[in-house]
This record gives sequence, structure tokens and C-alpha cells, in this order.
Amino acid sequence: MENVNSFEERFQQKIDNEEKIEARDWMPEAYRKTLIRQISQHAHSEIVGMLPEGNFITRAPSLKRKLALLAKVQDEAGHGLYLYSATETLGISRDELIDQLHSGKAKYSSIFNYPTLTWSDIGAIGWLVDGAAIMNQVALCRTSYGPYARAMVRICKEESFHQRQGYDILLTMCNGTAEQKEMVQDSVNRWWWPSLMMFGPSDSDSPHSAQSLKWKVKRLSNDELRQRFVDMTVPQAEILGITLPDPLLKYNESRGHYDFGEIDWEEFRQVVSGNGPCNKERLQARVKAHEEGNWVREAASAYAEKMKSKSLASVA
Ligand SMILES: [Fe+2]
Ligand SMILES: [Fe+2]
Repeated sequence: MENVNSFEERFQQKIDNEEKIEARDWMPEAYRKTLIRQISQHAHSEIVGMLPEGNFITRAPSLKRKLALLAKVQDEAGHGLYLYSATETLGISRDELIDQLHSGKAKYSSIFNYPTLTWSDIGAIGWLVDGAAIMNQVALCRTSYGPYARAMVRICKEESFHQRQGYDILLTMCNGTAEQKEMVQDSVNRWWWPSLMMFGPSDSDSPHSAQSLKWKVKRLSNDELRQRFVDMTVPQAEILGITLPDPLLKYNESRGHYDFGEIDWEEFRQVVSGNGPCNKERLQARVKAHEEGNWVREAASAYAEKMKSKSLASVA
């Protein structure tokens, strides 16, 4: 009889060989739990992330902008659905997942607890927030759990459209009037630091990181991803002709990377623990949507029941 150790060894060997772990494969309980937490957090973020932008669909400045924003927000709904399905393959139900979100037990990305105040915020979100998301998600295309990795491939393609639509909004405004450019600068001032926070705590402060890297649930550490994001974004800010709100941001020749200032970790902790500017509003909106959608779920279940008894009757 094989013991758990040899199962565990084979599991790690598979991962070391870059083979994917599939839903029916043996896996350590802690791996399963980590994935449920991470993928469902990701799913919740996609769904809650629709709220700040949905707020501007009726206020987009042109038909073209409205179509692009509508498509983007719908993409995010799709991302949420793939990711809920991927989480369900690990043996947790959709109802439990939604319940964890609505009760405040599950987390979602802290970034969506900031308000969208102006149209240029929609540009800044596409450029910076979707940009940070891509950085994370491109690495996750190689994550060790098969259903998660495969969902990421399509998601990344759509995210790059999101980033370009955001950047295009900002570029258009920066080539417009002085007031428009000022609006962009104001949006970037507000969204820059929260975007850097999206990569999570610094590596020295991230207790699960080492295990997640060994399991290849994560492929790059929080600080590595954050650095890549800064390096990618600075030249794009130069093209826009705006200033990133960090006096310590400077290219470091010897490292071959940009140095940047310290994140306000106290603000991060506050927002993650529910005290951000929009935490309550976001959760309330999700709970309300769920309750208002109850009749759809009831009708669908009643219909499924009816079809089932019909087919049973025809068999008899
Ligand atoms: Fe997304
Ligand atoms: Fe997106």
C-alpha cells in the first residue's frame, strides 16, 4: 500500500516536470485549499471589478467609447464565470463561493474599492489596473493547475484589449485640451499607488509565497511582478506626457530597473480589511444583484425539474 509521502513525491515530481495537475489527480489538501482561495479571489475580483466601470457606461463620451467599455465590462463577467467554474473543479460549489463573497469572508482585489470619479478614470483603470492584472495573469498561464492555466490563456487575450482601450482613452485626452490633460494627470495620481498594491504584500511580508512558488501556483513573486509592471509602465507614461506621482521613481543603471518609492502599506491593510472608500458600497451592490436575480434561478430550476419529470414520464 502506498503512503501519502509517495503520493506527495509524485505530485511534486509532476510539477517539477512542468506537467499540469488536473481535477481528478491526487493533490495535497493544502494545495487544493490554496487554489480555492486564489482562484475564487480572482473570480470575485473580476465580478466586483465590473462595478466601478459599469458606473460609466451611460456616460461614455461617444458611441465608439461606449461600445468598447460595454464589451470590456462583459468580458470581465466572462472571466468571472470561467474562474468560478475552474474553482468548482476543486470540489466547492458556486453557492458556497458566492456566499463567501457576500458574507465578507472571501477577499477580492483591493483596487476595486476605490471610486471612479471622472471619465479619465476609465482610461487609467484600463491602462494601469488591467495592465497590472495582465502582468500577473500572463505568468499564471503557466500555473500548475490545468483548469486555471487554460482559463488564463483566453483571459489574457481579452485583458490586452482592455489595456489598449484604456491607454487609447488617455492618449486621446492627453492630445486634447489642457483641462483634459489635467484630468488624466489627476486620475493617474489617484490610481498609480493602488495599482502597485495589486501585486500584494512585499515578498518579505508574504507568508504563503515560498510554498506557492514551489507548487508553481505562482510563477513569479509579488515584488518581481511589481517591478516588471513599473518597468513596463514608465515609458508609456512618458509617451502620454504625464508624471507618475512618485518622486523616487528613477532608472537604476546598475540594476537595469526603475527604483520606486515605498507603498503605503497601512492604506493597503485598511482597504483589504474592509475600510476602503467603497468596500461597503461594492458588497451591497453584489448582494442586491444576487437577490434581484433570485427569480431567474428559481425559474431555471423549476424548468429543469419540469423537463426531468417529462423525460422520466416518457421513459416509463
Ligand atoms: Fe478580467
Ligand atoms: Fe480586464
